[in-house]
Amino acid sequence: MGIYFDEVNKVFYLNTKETSYIMKVLDTGYITNLHYGKRIRNVNVKNLYQMKLRAFSPNPIPGDIQFSLDTLRQEYPQYGNSDMRIPAYQVQLEEGNTISDLKYLKHRIYKGKEKLEGLPATYVENENEATTLDIELYDDVIDLKVILTYTVFEDYNAITRSVKFVNEGIKDIKLLRALSMNVDFKDDDFDMLQLSGAWARERHIVRRPLTSGLQAIESRRGASSHQQNPFLCLMRKNADEYNGEVYGFSLVYSGNFAAYVEVDQFSTARVSMGINPFDFTWLLKSNESFQTPEVVMVYSDQGLNKMSEIYHKLYRERLCRGKFRDMVRPVLINNWEATYFKFNEKKLLDIAKEAAKLGIELFVLDDGWFGKRNCDDSSLGDWYVDKVKLPDGLEGLAKKVNETGLKFGLWFEPEMVSPDSDLYRKHPDWCLHVPNRSRSLGRNQLILDLSRDEVCEFIIKSVSDILNSANISYVKWDMNRHMTEISSELLPPERQKETAHRYVLGLYKVLEKITSSFPDVLFEGCSGGGGRFDPGMLYYMPQIWASDDTDAIERIKVQYGTSIVYPISTICSHLSAVPNHQIGRITPIKTRGNVAMSAEFGYELDLSKLNEEDKEEIKNQVKTYKEIRNIISFGDFYRLESPFDGNEAAWMFVTEDKREFIVFYFKVLVVPNAPDKYLKLRGINDDFNYMLIDNGEIYGGDELQNAGLYIPDIPGDFQSVMLRFKAVE
Ligand code: DGJ
Repeated sequence: MGIYFDEVNKVFYLNTKETSYIMKVLDTGYITNLHYGKRIRNVNVKNLYQMKLRAFSPNPIPGDIQFSLDTLRQEYPQYGNSDMRIPAYQVQLEEGNTISDLKYLKHRIYKGKEKLEGLPATYVENENEATTLDIELYDDVIDLKVILTYTVFEDYNAITRSVKFVNEGIKDIKLLRALSMNVDFKDDDFDMLQLSGAWARERHIVRRPLTSGLQAIESRRGASSHQQNPFLCLMRKNADEYNGEVYGFSLVYSGNFAAYVEVDQFSTARVSMGINPFDFTWLLKSNESFQTPEVVMVYSDQGLNKMSEIYHKLYRERLCRGKFRDMVRPVLINNWEATYFKFNEKKLLDIAKEAAKLGIELFVLDDGWFGKRNCDDSSLGDWYVDKVKLPDGLEGLAKKVNETGLKFGLWFEPEMVSPDSDLYRKHPDWCLHVPNRSRSLGRNQLILDLSRDEVCEFIIKSVSDILNSANISYVKWDMNRHMTEISSELLPPERQKETAHRYVLGLYKVLEKITSSFPDVLFEGCSGGGGRFDPGMLYYMPQIWASDDTDAIERIKVQYGTSIVYPISTICSHLSAVPNHQIGRITPIKTRGNVAMSAEFGYELDLSKLNEEDKEEIKNQVKTYKEIRNIISFGDFYRLESPFDGNEAAWMFVTEDKREFIVFYFKVLVVPNAPDKYLKLRGINDDFNYMLIDNGEIYGGDELQNAGLYIPDIPGDFQSVMLRFKAVE
């Protein structure tokens, strides 16, 4: 059992195989954290719980001048009665004040894990996979109940957390802030690592030392965003990929989020995370409840890579769902960078026929097939086929694509509306907007108001009708702008600040309905590349387009950064033409292949215009990828050299039984008269002998891991190698 309550000392032990999260209910009813980190047998409370008189830290318990919430390591800190640090939640009462006081009431420990109403979350397939603790806190002045839920995935080595608010009183309570978790650490001797970026350079790794005061990352864009990912981790100063303590916090949410680390006057670090309190409130009427999204916490005492391994396995197996979760994915050709909006049926079929000859398995028709969409300024919302471009409709095209031997997939951007569309002309009020104010455009489009039921129903029907109209095996679900004028016409004034979260709940409802109605369709998430690459979306779609930047060298960084949290089976990457369309760089086809083959693989260029040499190379790449995709998607992933540290990068994939592995090495610029290069490998068996498949050379696993693998010089810029090994007797 992963959770145990010591009745005598009132101590909760939440134990995974290798970690312990331990907290105590104090006589006052407050709960304090005693330990989070490497697994320990039991605790001496007198050792781990210390209170002393501190000036300017007020005392909420009459007669106890040592006790202050300001210096207590708390589970779910409140505002207003002595804690001066950043609170995890705050309420506003009808009287206007914002004070509340939650105390322990009771708890429940049970096997398995319950679903979070209306929200994506990790799950169990069998109740023995996890144990859950619900701690009920209560404020009896305002009759507010708050349930802190902790689930321990013992074997996965992860703990999830979420919070539910229930108004059991008769008066309204307004939530001003409702984060999903809080951990108060004993010290601040950490660096903070975050995944930050922009469109076309998502999830770059940023590491910075903690300093006194508040450090935060957040999105106010309505989506989790390209700019900040809903993840942060604390790393000991000496921690790196394979050494030292690392604590990861990952939020299963796709909208505005915030993650904070506050270092206080006594050098403790408070980590908290959840829906961004900025421009957010939620009205709880009598008997209403509010569920926060989930945070997944992972501790590793062996550096970042082990933390990533834990996230990869949990997210691959118990966050992603559906039949494609455990299946290798088809090699695809997408027409976007091949044709943009300028195509007709013949052009598409020429590409599909060429793709079939090269062994590609799925043809994806991207933007431009509907309404009168010949550039990005019209037709979003008009989800009916453009018969000028496709006279036989989608059904006819899909049939002809299928006849070439390929499956057929389709792009949608269902959350949007173009001002120049029949939908907008009919329902100008269906988008997010503020009456009497102009509506800011992004990529010439507006965002539909998914907080409204009829808008969600419209999306479900339009997408479903199309999916029923032709043999469609795959959907790319795009979202190409961020939110402005966030307001919903149907919500009363006191609920206006609920709009952004209600939008996300509407989106989740739509995705649940569509993905469960079409279980045989493979769904891929996208938001102008990787603008919504988050665990929330992965619950509905097992893979996401990582970036609009298809340049191989930039992609090394994007994929490396993304792998900090997200499994390789969720990261999509395509080989595209040179000069690269986003940045103009010219890289060898082999390196473009090696980068894209390190993820869920596809092509995005006009195959009908290729020379014979490139066609031959692509044919070989597709053949190789089919041989290795099982290891790429489901093997263990090890980062060897970081592209953020210099001119090189390397990573490798290893099968579970460690009998096969693949190493990828990339060098950005050639170095004249370069030093010898040895790569120390990871995750293989010291006692096995491995053969390099290319030349039959044999190496000991111990040699490769401790002395390293020699990488011969490769002349030229932007070069790379893929080296496949298998164990020999
Ligand atoms: C943004 C996506 O990321 C691209 O791959 C492409 O689908 C375009 N949108 C189409 O408008």
